[in-house]
Amino acid sequence: KWKVWVDRDVCIGDAICASLCPDVFEMDDEGKSFAKVEIVGEDLIDCVNEAAEACPVSCIHVEQI
Ligand code: F3S
Repeated sequence: KWKVWVDRDVCIGDAICASLCPDVFEMDDEGKSFAKVEIVGEDLIDCVNEAAEACPVSCIHVEQI
């Protein structure tokens, strides 16, 4: 399993994460992203990695646990 989080101090609200991986990332009222699922398994890790690579400020963090 993997732990996923968004560094919200760095997020600029690009929203590509929520487009690529809507099962995990959602935009909030402040126009920033958060991980609504914080622990993901095999089924979601590919889209999480895609989102993390696509984020222009690299503020999506993924850690294997
Ligand atoms: Fe923020 Fe990066 Fe998503 S800037 S909204 S975490 S693509």
